[in-house]
Amino acid sequence: MANHSIVFDKVTKRFPKADKPSVNEVSLQIEEGSFVTILGASGCGKTTLLKMVNRIYEPTSGRIFVEGEDVATVPVTQLRRKIGYVIQQVGLFPHMTIEENIATVPRILGWDNKQIDERIDELLELVHLPPKDFRKRYPRQLSGGQQQRVGLARAMAGNPAIMLMDEPFGAIDAITRASLQDELIQIQRRLHKTILFVTHDIEEALKLGDKIVIMNNGEIQQYDTPFHIITQPANAFVSRLVHSEDVLKRLSVMKAESVMTEIEGTVHPNEIRVSKEENCKTILMHILKSEHDSVIVEDGNQTPVGRVTLAHLKIHEALSQSLSAS
Ligand SMILES: Nc1ncnc2c1ncn2[C@@H]1O[C@H](COP(=O)(O)OP(=O)(O)OP(=O)(O)O)[C@@H](O)[C@H]1O
Ligand SMILES: [Mg+2]
Repeated sequence: MANHSIVFDKVTKRFPKADKPSVNEVSLQIEEGSFVTILGASGCGKTTLLKMVNRIYEPTSGRIFVEGEDVATVPVTQLRRKIGYVIQQVGLFPHMTIEENIATVPRILGWDNKQIDERIDELLELVHLPPKDFRKRYPRQLSGGQQQRVGLARAMAGNPAIMLMDEPFGAIDAITRASLQDELIQIQRRLHKTILFVTHDIEEALKLGDKIVIMNNGEIQQYDTPFHIITQPANAFVSRLVHSEDVLKRLSVMKAESVMTEIEGTVHPNEIRVSKEENCKTILMHILKSEHDSVIVEDGNQTPVGRVTLAHLKIHEALSQSLSAS
């Protein structure tokens, strides 16, 4: 069994005087090294859920475990040292320069000055803010998107195993946002961080998440891979949210031939074979039921001519097209 980095066990948060809980009986297991996105409408409890992990809020009932320890029993400072946190409103310290902001955690951790200095450069480069230009500036001298990138750099400074990110790219334009998303994926693959990432952008959730948590009214509607969320939405809410019908419709008019690529490596005897004419919706269903994440495409003489993998089905693209069409 995979190790779980964060476990929510029937977690409920009810704020004083609130007539209903903001988070209701949430149980969730986040695997170590996985990238999990939390998707849901404004007010559905995403931030509240995140803030209970590093004990900014305490649950009304239920328990949360981080790396096997009940967080209620771990001193807050110790807990927060292993959790990087990017808050929704960026929250840079206004009276500190960018370099001082980023150095906050490394200083607490007692790194020496040279180490901290190198780390600041490394992180600023990572988020595409040339250190020479940005180190000495104050947050108010940066654009909203630049501030968010500093927020990301600061959260990663102490090299935490876990990152909580609350709509970190909300204030960033679409182009920069796409490149930051790509970088975050690279960073995560390389450093194997466990990331809990809140967004209300469906495409972002699908693109970044190994798995997605879909929330509504403080409750989890589905916790699954992007692929399953689209192809097997758990209920009408999820289906509407991700426009799964539109995606499937789009896939049903795409032919195997148009998305296949050359066969690399060997063809497994038990890999499913389809004709060049087969539609991608059917292929998707085949893949879902099989142990392979691809099918072999053959010509009229039953000669293998290509392969269609999950990635080729380009669910993200099909989805974004159906989103822009709707
Ligand atoms: N400190 C608080 N005191 C009382 N109610 C709160 C508090 N924080 C959040 N809430 C309420 O809890 C519910 C969930 O809020 P939360 O901030 O978790 O939503 P969210 O999903 O992050 O929304 P958004 O996408 O707008 O950031 C809301 O109804 C909100 O008004
Ligand atoms: Mg929020």
